[in-house]
Amino acid sequence: MTEPPMEIEFSSFGEKLREQCGILELMDDLGKALTTNPDMRMMGGGNPAAIPEVQQIWRDRAAQLLGEGNDFDRMLVNYDPPAGNPRFLEAVAGCLNRDTGWNLQPGNVAVTCGGQTAFFFLFNMLAGEFADGSHRKILLPVTPEYIGYANQGVSKDLFTALPAIIEEGDDNTFKYRVDFDNLEITGDIAAICVSRPTNPSGNVLSDTEIARLSELAKQNGIPLIIDNAYGNPFPGAIFTDATPVWDEHVILTLSLSKLGLPGTRTGIIVASETITRAISAMTAVVGLANNNIGQTLALPLLESGEIIDISNDIIRPFYRKRAEEARQLVTDAFDDSTPYRVHAAEGAFFLWFWFPGLPISSTELYRRLKQRDVLVVPGEYFFYGLDEPWQHSRECIRVTFSQPMEIVREGIKIIAEEVGRAYRQ
Ligand SMILES: Cc1ncc(COP(=O)(O)O)c(C=O)c1O
Repeated sequence: MTEPPMEIEFSSFGEKLREQCGILELMDDLGKALTTNPDMRMMGGGNPAAIPEVQQIWRDRAAQLLGEGNDFDRMLVNYDPPAGNPRFLEAVAGCLNRDTGWNLQPGNVAVTCGGQTAFFFLFNMLAGEFADGSHRKILLPVTPEYIGYANQGVSKDLFTALPAIIEEGDDNTFKYRVDFDNLEITGDIAAICVSRPTNPSGNVLSDTEIARLSELAKQNGIPLIIDNAYGNPFPGAIFTDATPVWDEHVILTLSLSKLGLPGTRTGIIVASETITRAISAMTAVVGLANNNIGQTLALPLLESGEIIDISNDIIRPFYRKRAEEARQLVTDAFDDSTPYRVHAAEGAFFLWFWFPGLPISSTELYRRLKQRDVLVVPGEYFFYGLDEPWQHSRECIRVTFSQPMEIVREGIKIIAEEVGRAYRQ
């Protein structure tokens, strides 16, 4: 006779992090659909494209490591200090200083197990419950914002978000802007956070917008977190002249993922030493040390600055061309009777569609597209922390164009058909 399963009671922390959040269900759904159906067109994930020239650089670098001295063995056999490998920290600081004119010290840099972990640490150490009984939040000044932040709070209601202003442009494009008139930094705001370029929309906050946010943060004595997972100076999946920004009150995060190394889980935080020391302590507690494979692979490219050349000369042109091609496919596939809009392609690798007045929710559209072997991400998931429901959140979808062009072409055609059908139904 089999024993009944043991009833396990989870702590509040356990309950919060194991909860069946929408994104977990969605990722599960996406994963299952992919494994059970080889014909599925994957346009939902955040994987970078496999760019042959970039992959070759990492292959050559791996071969070099295997061939020379005992670097390979050292990489495998040693735990790094929790802030990251000292040579890597120095190389990051040096590379950024040379490119931007900043004056970073290695102590301003800390490595994490991917950018995602960086955000888990940052959000929970800056916001949530405080010793004086207060509860503070992270302000997202431009919603929609990255889906990956949504469930990271250990305490409840970690985010408060402001709907973006929608600016309509020519040729069915639109663009989000910060609604500064309604942006209020109340006493319960612990930090401001933006991704730049923004996942999902591909929006890039202008230098002026960033300067205003930075000034607001400084005046209020709180950090401005800028998530640079796609931006400048690396990996360079950005098509506007956005200047990288850092200051003592700014926490800038970078990642090696979109340079083609998501599997190495390497995130980088550039911040004041108070922040980097706290991050390092958290890494020690949670994981002792970080994965050092990405750090070791990228080290000489950071020391020489080649990483910036790769970003400028290979990665940016690749994604820019992809963005233009994908946009053309949209123009070709949608007929003018379908009221579609696409966010201006300023960075990252997504088409962010808006279907004004869509008669079905974007989740229903996601289901219908899945039936037709096209996987996208429904827009609802990118609008969290809002005070009031916003119809716009039910009218958007995110579509990746980093996959092979044939898949992108077929996928966009099917999206146009299904959306057209939904409006006509
Ligand atoms: C905006 C943004 N921030 C952070 C991340 C986390 O990336 P990683 O943990 O691979 O560094 C992603 C991943 O797609 C992202 O899109």
